[in-house]
Amino acid sequence: MSKKICLGIESTAHTIGVGIIDNFGNILSNEKMQFISKEGVGLKPFDVSIFHYDNAITVLESALRKAKLKMKDIDVISFSQGPGLAPCLSVSATLARTLSIKYNKPIIGVNHCISHIEIGKTLLKAKDPLIIYTSGANTQIIAKDENRYKIIGETLDIGIGNLFDSFARDLGYGFPGGPVLDEIYFKADRSKYIELPYSVKGMDLNFSGLLTHSKKIINNYPKEELVYSFMHTAYAMLLEVTDRALSYTKKKEVMVIGGVAASKALKEMLEIFAKQNKIKLFIPPMVVCVDNGLIIADLGLKHYIHNYKNGMKLKDTKINSKFRTDQVIINW
Ligand code: ATP
Ligand code: FE2
Repeated sequence: MSKKICLGIESTAHTIGVGIIDNFGNILSNEKMQFISKEGVGLKPFDVSIFHYDNAITVLESALRKAKLKMKDIDVISFSQGPGLAPCLSVSATLARTLSIKYNKPIIGVNHCISHIEIGKTLLKAKDPLIIYTSGANTQIIAKDENRYKIIGETLDIGIGNLFDSFARDLGYGFPGGPVLDEIYFKADRSKYIELPYSVKGMDLNFSGLLTHSKKIINNYPKEELVYSFMHTAYAMLLEVTDRALSYTKKKEVMVIGGVAASKALKEMLEIFAKQNKIKLFIPPMVVCVDNGLIIADLGLKHYIHNYKNGMKLKDTKINSKFRTDQVIINW
């Protein structure tokens, strides 16, 4: 097949990003800017979308410059259609439509969550992994069944990253707390493991019992031992559902995606688990675990080659803030 180049635009939440990739897996550029909310103030979608509108063209021009390309060299334009914050999503949709019309290029809207999975397959050559998607708000076990990704287990309350951030805040650390706890974990005397609430229901997880109890006993133990036991318990729960999912699905690969994939403690536990179960473990580089335009370009290019040779009709490029992972047909 001749060379095809896709330009992908991301703006589901705090990041506005533009990435460019070709169908030989060459990463041509990946530029982004992130909205930083003030301490103690949550993400206000409208304010974030203004930030994205203000910076979208700068990021786009920078991505084209880094790739040494002009818009005329691009074969297809993709954007994150959802899930995400509606005002933010509208920025990449508007920019993608404008570029598509102005330069007469095919346009493709893609599912953001699937883009995190697919980039891992592109970069690491994983074939059919069970996916542990673990970020701030999400904790899910995902498996491809026939031609769709299906969520087969998940948290019933908070995401594991938010769990770490919340406990770290009570210990006096700033946001994000996950990386701080991940350092403290390795300073503990592991023989002093503290038994903490552990809640797995079939394929689903509950973290709030662990959080509430750990906060109650926060002053009763040395910090290192408590942090070690807290994280170890949360990850053990995650591994229990992973183990069950592997025996259901018979998959031989595991891939971790989302911000918590940066955790050295999780990596240590997963490496032992993978060895014991003869499973291949894939942890993509952090630049693609966090939000960015490259992952959107990668998935857009796959859809272009396999599903939409002429792109989507403009009427099908509406944003979908509740876009579900299992709505997308994956036929490659
Ligand atoms: P989403 O809204 O999709 O859940 P997010 O922006 O909240 O995304 P990510 O950026 O994917 O989440 O991940 C951020 C989370 O990852 C934070 O909760 C942070 O504490 C956690 N995290 C980052 N690095 C580490 C680490 N080394 N160990 C543990 N947790 C980590
Ligand atoms: Fe993301």
